[in-house]
Amino acid sequence: MGPASQAPRATRPIGVFDSGVGGLSVLRALRSALPGEDFLYLGDTARLPYGTKSEHTVVRYALQAADELVGREIKCLVIACNTASAAALPALQERYAELPVIGVIEPGARAACAGSVSGRIAVLGTESTVQGGAYTRSILRLRPDAQVLGIACSLFVALAEEGWTDGAVASAAAARYLTPLRAAGPAAPDMVVLACTHFPVLEPVIAAAVGPGMRIVDSAATTAAAVRTELQRRGLLHRVAPEAARPVASRDAPRGRVDFLATDGPARFASVGSRFLGEPIAADEVELIDL
Ligand code: DGL
Repeated sequence: MGPASQAPRATRPIGVFDSGVGGLSVLRALRSALPGEDFLYLGDTARLPYGTKSEHTVVRYALQAADELVGREIKCLVIACNTASAAALPALQERYAELPVIGVIEPGARAACAGSVSGRIAVLGTESTVQGGAYTRSILRLRPDAQVLGIACSLFVALAEEGWTDGAVASAAAARYLTPLRAAGPAAPDMVVLACTHFPVLEPVIAAAVGPGMRIVDSAATTAAAVRTELQRRGLLHRVAPEAARPVASRDAPRGRVDFLATDGPARFASVGSRFLGEPIAADEVELIDL
């Protein structure tokens, strides 16, 4: 049993975690789908990357990160990391049976299946996500006739964390990793799913490398929709004043509060993370923690 045995309450924040800043791309979608909610985001920057580590280690890290968030009284846990979702979702759901615990793989698989006509789907992820096969299994559950091609693109994580999301180095890495897609000719996938939350910031170079004719999706929007549905189902949505009752100036702006935790490099987390979140993060807003 995890640290929170009490029933979750609607006014508590939603906990979100990733190995680094990648999950901020999911937080961005969550903020937009759930503007009345407060969030607590944890980036385990000291131990990144997760994607090249063993499943056993990723499960251990994920449980420690989740314990930290649950100990701070969250009402829902979002695993905004494909690698951790693939390795640790069942363990986290068992440990926090009283909380909604939502990963990004099932929502990402749903987005990929919904957008593919041919059923040929490329999954770009970390080594661990691709080798573990969780995405393939999720896609085949939804669409048994699908053909899934997994490509491990581990270097994309470092490029995204470094902020090298365009230019010659990013383009060369994308061209090299995605050669099998271009070489497939008429049998090429029509859908590319970004199965790592670090990858959406690299979408333009990925799109340029795969060429026209392939759609690209990620799991952020479908994960946010899944979280919203689950909170609603459990009566855990934080009530906000109806649109008409709020001042015009605040109608489009996210209103909830976001707190950030990082296990290393708060200044770096803030500067790189702002790009993923799409809004500024100040270094002194990021609390340094040890897990
Ligand atoms: N952002 C994580 C994911 O979605 C992984 C990055 C890492 O390797 O730590 O898979």
